[in-house]
Amino acid sequence: MAYQLPALPYSYTALEPFISKSTLEFHHDKHHATYVTKFNEAVQGTDLDSKSLEEVIKAIAGDSSKTGIFNNAAQAWNHTFYWNSLKPGGGGTPSGALADKIAADFGSFDQFLEAFKTASTTQFGSGWAWLVLDGNTLKVTKTSNADNPLTSNQVPLLTLDVWEHAYYLDYQNKRPDYIDAFLKNLLNWDFAAQNFAAA
Ligand code: FE2
Repeated sequence: MAYQLPALPYSYTALEPFISKSTLEFHHDKHHATYVTKFNEAVQGTDLDSKSLEEVIKAIAGDSSKTGIFNNAAQAWNHTFYWNSLKPGGGGTPSGALADKIAADFGSFDQFLEAFKTASTTQFGSGWAWLVLDGNTLKVTKTSNADNPLTSNQVPLLTLDVWEHAYYLDYQNKRPDYIDAFLKNLLNWDFAAQNFAAA
């Protein structure tokens, strides 16, 4: 059965002025939608057709004969995870068990912020920055192109898309301004806390 493109979890104007309606229309309705379409086309009639995106990603990671399917499956999954990593009125600081774990593993919340800014700024070209649980330790990581932490047996807690299509209409080449807006105004700590609690 074909995988369906999930709707955005908020309206197209909900993230303004930090991410515009125009960016969300292109990013969700064109970029994300195309990954989903290409994924469905690629797995139709194969034994991957009945599997979830996560199962497909884990099953074919590193298989050089299935790079195209992997890229579209991972990009379909990454984007849904990204939409949920954002919310109107987000940013600020986490609370509860996740806040305690960030302080324990990074030294302080500010040190987490610095690590995340460094990873997302220095990802060369297209990719993603992540907060993950690796074993019992929180880490900030970055991945290139479509790659994601599921292939490293890490549990993703939140992500930031640093492909140019995520920010170019609103920030042009100023990726650090987009990263700052995410951390201060958009980051959905409730989503990260849910993922942490379920890990
Ligand atoms: Fe994207």
